[in-house]
Order: sequence, then C-alpha cells, then structure tokens
Amino acid sequence: MIKVDISNVWGQLSLPDLLAVEGEVAAAHRTLTDGSGEGSDFLGWLSLPTREVTDEMQRILAAAARIRATSDALVVVGIGGSYLGPRAAIELMQGANHNIGKGKGDPQIFYAGNTLSTRGWNELCRLLDGKDFSVAVISKSGTTTEPAIAFRALRWMLERKYGTEKAKKRIYAITDPVKGALKQMAAEEGWETFVIPPAAGGRFSVLTPVGLLPMAVAGIDITKVMAGACDAKESYNSLRSFENPVWLYAGVRNLLYRNGKEIELFESFEPGFKMFGGWWQQLFGESEGKDGKGLFPVTAEFTPDLHSLGQMIQQGQRNIFETMVRFAPPAQRSVIGSDAKNLDGLNYLAGKTLDFVDEQAFLGTVAAHVDGGVPVITMDMGELNEEKLGEMFYFLELCCGVSAYILGVNPFNQPGVEFYKRNMFRLLGKPGYEK
Ligand code: PA5
Repeated sequence: MIKVDISNVWGQLSLPDLLAVEGEVAAAHRTLTDGSGEGSDFLGWLSLPTREVTDEMQRILAAAARIRATSDALVVVGIGGSYLGPRAAIELMQGANHNIGKGKGDPQIFYAGNTLSTRGWNELCRLLDGKDFSVAVISKSGTTTEPAIAFRALRWMLERKYGTEKAKKRIYAITDPVKGALKQMAAEEGWETFVIPPAAGGRFSVLTPVGLLPMAVAGIDITKVMAGACDAKESYNSLRSFENPVWLYAGVRNLLYRNGKEIELFESFEPGFKMFGGWWQQLFGESEGKDGKGLFPVTAEFTPDLHSLGQMIQQGQRNIFETMVRFAPPAQRSVIGSDAKNLDGLNYLAGKTLDFVDEQAFLGTVAAHVDGGVPVITMDMGELNEEKLGEMFYFLELCCGVSAYILGVNPFNQPGVEFYKRNMFRLLGKPGYEK
C-alpha cells in the first residue's frame, strides 16, 4: 500500500480534529461506492480495473505491436483528460527525454491537439519529417477544437504520405462508443476504434484505451499496470478506517483547507514526475474547483523549484500545504567520486550515493517548510514499476472522489470548462454561437 505520512501536519491539526472528521470521510467513501452521490453516472472508473486480458486489451496489445513495427513515431492527439494520463504514465516510467534515440521497433511518442500554438505545430511537423508515423486520436466528445484541428491536418499528412487506404491503417480512434463526430468519422473511414466507457469521464480515463494504447506503444506492460490498479481497487475500497491512506489523504487535505490552507503543492524530487503532477492537477482541479470552493492544485519539481518557489513556500502567504511524493531509489545507484584537488569542496560527499544526497535534501526541505508553518503530507510510493503506476492512478482517482464528496461538490462534472469554449466559438464565428 502507498504510505501516507501525516506526522508533519500536527503543528496545524490535532488528533481530535482528525477523529472528528472520520464520519464525514466514511460517508463520502460510502457515497462514492454505493453510487448515491451527485455525478454517479460517471463512476465507471471505480470498477474498471481487471486482471482479465479482455478482448479489448488484446486488441490494444495487437494495435500497439503493429504501431511499434511500422512506425518511427506515434502522435497522440488529445487534450485534458484525453492526453494528460498517457503522457504522465510514459514520462514517469521512462523520463521526459524518453524519445531520444528511439524509432521503429520502439517508436517515439509525440503529442498534438493539446495547444493552438503555431510554433508547437511547426515543431511537430519538423519532428515528423521523413518519419513513418501513426496517429492515435483521443476525444470522448469527438468535437473538442484543439484536437479536431490537429487531427484534420495529421490525417491529411498521412493521406499525402501513404495514400488514402494505407493512411486508414495508421489511424486509431479512441472515443465514445456511439456518439460524436469522431465516432462517426471512424465508422465511415474504417479506422480501428477503441471505446472510452461513457461512465468514465476524461480525467478518470487513464486506465481505459486512452492511457493504455499509448503506454503499450511506449513499451509499458499494460497488463501489469492493470494488475496494480486491480489490487488497488480491492485493497483501498475494503479498508474503512484511517488505516486506509485514501481516507487519511482525503480527510487531512480537507481539514487543512478548512484551516485556511487554500493551495496544495503536489511535488516530487523526480524530473519524470512533472506530467504526472499535471495529471493530478487536472484530476483534482476539475473535480473540486466549483461552487466557489476547492483547493487550488499546483505541481512542482524539487529540487529545481526550491530555487524558484522555495522562497514563497518558506516565507510567503501561509495559505499553502504540500504533498510530497517519494519513490524508492532505483537499483542502479550513482556514487559521488573523490577529486585530488577538491577545489569544489565536495570531497566530504565522496563515496556517498546521489540518492543519499537527495534524501537529505528531502528531509531538509520538509524540516524547513514545517518550521515555516507549511504542513507537509508525505506519500511514499515505494518502488516505481508498472504495478505501482496502476496503483497510483487508481489510488489518486479514489482519493479525489472521496475528497470532493467531503468538500460537498460533484466530482464528475466540469461546467466551467465550457465558458472559454463558448467565447472562442463566438469569436471564431462557429454557427450557432453568434450571441
Ligand atoms: O476531463 C475532462 O473531461 C476534460 O479535460 C476532457 O478530457 C477534455 O476537455 C477533452 O475532451 P474530449 O475528450 O471530449 O475531447
């Protein structure tokens, strides 16, 4: 199980505070699992993980094998919940620079449709120049503007490069089983299609083909990811007390919020964690930020951000708490060497491993921030592997559902996201949006 350590929040909370909220946490978890809360049409993700290699899983594995054999690159087209999960998974497991040196057999993974930047598009075109590529287009609604624009252009690039019929074999559509423009196009054009279950909203869809196909193309063993998520489903839903780290995290973050801590910084000392932090930020931000309520979720990378946000965390407004994610160090260690001249004065560290220094940086940071009045929750993930990845996704989705119900909001809608879209459509002159 993931370990949630709250020993560094006691300066701001007391045990009686925590015990007083236990009933609310229990009720929120019950509301989620018995489907009696608002938004219960979108609880598909809760029971989704399975150890069974389903027909769909087999199709995903076959499609991934085909893409790996025929493509130097896969372009994943999508935005928000239709993009962050796969990128989070791939970068956490393989690092942000995972594309370097890759090609056919182990393709590069690029992303499109998550921006309207012309520079971003031009860069993608340069990256794809001369490469064999396939496209996985992901959109539940099938109508989101950013991915729709990118996909139209990529489809035409494929058609020009391979001809209409061969291009069709390089397009994979991941969308709603019945409705939406993408579903309709896929049916008409004969693209291989995977289903986003209607009962799993975008930000809760990483353990569906949305996340699984790109992960499998990147060489991640998705059967192990699903096994980890399945274990998580069983263990985190059966334990109904504060021994359950889901309860502890959801309960404590709500108590801190009630005590004026309005911002949660979700951090790690791993550079590959940045996009995972982005996935978490969307999960909690879109689920909780409504009805004038919600913690503002921000992700940060240490130690780099200690040299940018560190001052603010240490001495700025006291409205922050931190959730620090830790992983066990990898088996391959790096030892700091001894230098005859020692002009940099580092010989006191000679023979020590880099992860030892990292651990002291972590401990020193926690002590400093706690001294500065910033409570710190620590989430110890243990060894990072595929099973752990699945466990982390499910664990945080569950924490989010429970936490949002404690807060008293519907975790599964996002009415606010539509506002900018309506304005943009009016400005662009989209028919039906004139006023
Ligand atoms: O989490 C969500 O629901 C959103 O972030 C959506 O995933 C995002 O807006 C993209 O929507 P769609 O998948 O319909 O293109």
